[in-house]
Amino acid sequence: MLKIVKDNVKSLRNKSIPVNMPLSDKDRKTLLEMIDYLVNSQDEEYCQKHGIRGGVGLAAPQIGVNKRMFAIYYPKDEKTIVKYGLVNPKIIQNSLRKVAIQSGEGCLSVDEDKKGYVYRYHKIVMKAFDVVTNKDITITATGYDAIVLQHEYDHLDGILYYDRIDKNDPFKILDNSYLI
Ligand code: NI
Repeated sequence: MLKIVKDNVKSLRNKSIPVNMPLSDKDRKTLLEMIDYLVNSQDEEYCQKHGIRGGVGLAAPQIGVNKRMFAIYYPKDEKTIVKYGLVNPKIIQNSLRKVAIQSGEGCLSVDEDKKGYVYRYHKIVMKAFDVVTNKDITITATGYDAIVLQHEYDHLDGILYYDRIDKNDPFKILDNSYLI
């Protein structure tokens, strides 16, 4: 099973390097394993048995691989599952409006939840190579979906969600923003 790097480890703070394309079998396998980890992590019994936490996203630096790729997996509603294995993602557009999760964010690398609003772009357009569809894709995401993508993207630059919480006023209400 993959071992999660915690936030006391320096490598989590490094900027990750671009992945060589075309994708090697090794990198593809790593990313597919990361998706599997997330799928398993959403099974409560599996978590208890293996002593892991549930997650919706996992970036390569979190398993000790400082390359620009991350996995996302979560059910969006009864009919849709959000599932990506993204390589060399780029945010090519973002809204001015921001959004934050009322109850705060969490991270598999951060054992103690840090309270406060983590403001992120309400809407982004991201381009990447995706191992799930084996294609270059363009994702337009808003709200929660956009938050998850930006949280994982931040890991590639060594940024953790609590870096974005205002230390003096963690529950500050920003102009042109909303909470979900
Ligand atoms: Ni995280």
